[in-house]
Amino acid sequence: MTETNRRIVLKRRPVGMPTPDDFAFEDVPVPEPGEGEVVLKHLYLSLDPYQRGRLSDAKSYAAPVPIGGVVECRTVGRVLASRDARFAPGDIVLGGFGWQTHSVMPGKQLLKLDPAEAPVSTALGVLGMPGLTAHVGMSDIGQPKAGETVVISAASGAVGAVAGQIAKLAGCRVVGVAGGADKCRFVTGTLGFDACIDHRADHLGTALDRACPNGIDVYWENVGGALQAAVFPRLRDFGRMVMCGMIAQYNDADPPAGPNLGPVVRKRLRIQGFIVSDQWQRLGEWRALAVPMLRDGRLKYREDVVEGLEATPAAFIGLLQGKNFGKLLVRLPD
Ligand SMILES: NC(=O)c1ccc[n+]([C@@H]2O[C@H](COP(=O)([O-])OP(=O)(O)OC[C@H]3O[C@@H](n4cnc5c(N)ncnc54)[C@H](OP(=O)(O)O)[C@@H]3O)[C@@H](O)[C@H]2O)c1
Repeated sequence: MTETNRRIVLKRRPVGMPTPDDFAFEDVPVPEPGEGEVVLKHLYLSLDPYQRGRLSDAKSYAAPVPIGGVVECRTVGRVLASRDARFAPGDIVLGGFGWQTHSVMPGKQLLKLDPAEAPVSTALGVLGMPGLTAHVGMSDIGQPKAGETVVISAASGAVGAVAGQIAKLAGCRVVGVAGGADKCRFVTGTLGFDACIDHRADHLGTALDRACPNGIDVYWENVGGALQAAVFPRLRDFGRMVMCGMIAQYNDADPPAGPNLGPVVRKRLRIQGFIVSDQWQRLGEWRALAVPMLRDGRLKYREDVVEGLEATPAAFIGLLQGKNFGKLLVRLPD
């Protein structure tokens, strides 16, 4: 085609915060579309925190951008030429690729947008990946219930703004955390959250105590770092942490000290505490499973039996020191 594609490629892997020198601009001809392909002129590129991860070759859930490769992102574009019967020149679609002015995509990877439904840019934000993130995380993990207190980090951002509004619609008290007075005004004034903590100005612990006097039922984690540390002890019984992202550590060369919960997001880990007494009614269920296995030897066990009441304190202290070997019991005379 006569069009020229201006694109941004990864020149070298950033160490710490990326710099403009990590990227290079290139001009290349836009190729003719193959069978089933569509040529797009991009109207919007989506910039998202996950792209920092793609610039690194550390092991992750997705392949890194290769050196010399176009930096990855979703786009909204206008169809210039099409060899897929479902798309015609002028159509607006979600699904182009990369930090570049044009792309050539298989038609089956594109979603046609209706500009009358909503501004087409929303396909990359509130109606797109960030909005879906908020919906999935809240409905599957946050599960906000009326009357609960929900704290949202990066509350003015693409994901946080939607997550908090979903919690408001569920009848929760919603407290945002954002950087700066302008963002906080937007969070309370426009988004309708009940309160907003300015993490650049407020003392996090004091502000959380004031905004969440009964503690926190749901914490939406977008950030990590000091905010996570301040929220954690304020979570209530049966609280939920929606581990969405930890942007505060995306540029760290080394993992942060202390428990590093970054892998919880990347590896989709489930970490959930429980107290068995809440489930006592399930004892019969366990015994029905276990008794046959015990009888036929599939389930093994070992007991460490000490004799007499007098042996009890020393045996208990031994338990705390690892001296028992198996289930520790005290046998009393019959
Ligand atoms: N799990 C998933 O599938 C998934 C999908 C999408 C996004 N995410 C994650 O969700 C989070 C939000 O993404 P988004 O697209 O909605 O971005 P965003 O909130 O629109 O923009 C990022 C915001 O993060 C805050 N921030 C940046 N660096 C920070 C730092 N060092 N310390 C504290 N705050 C910092 C800033 O807000 P303030 O100025 O208000 O602090 C910044 O505006 C990210 O962690 C992202 O990786 C996860």
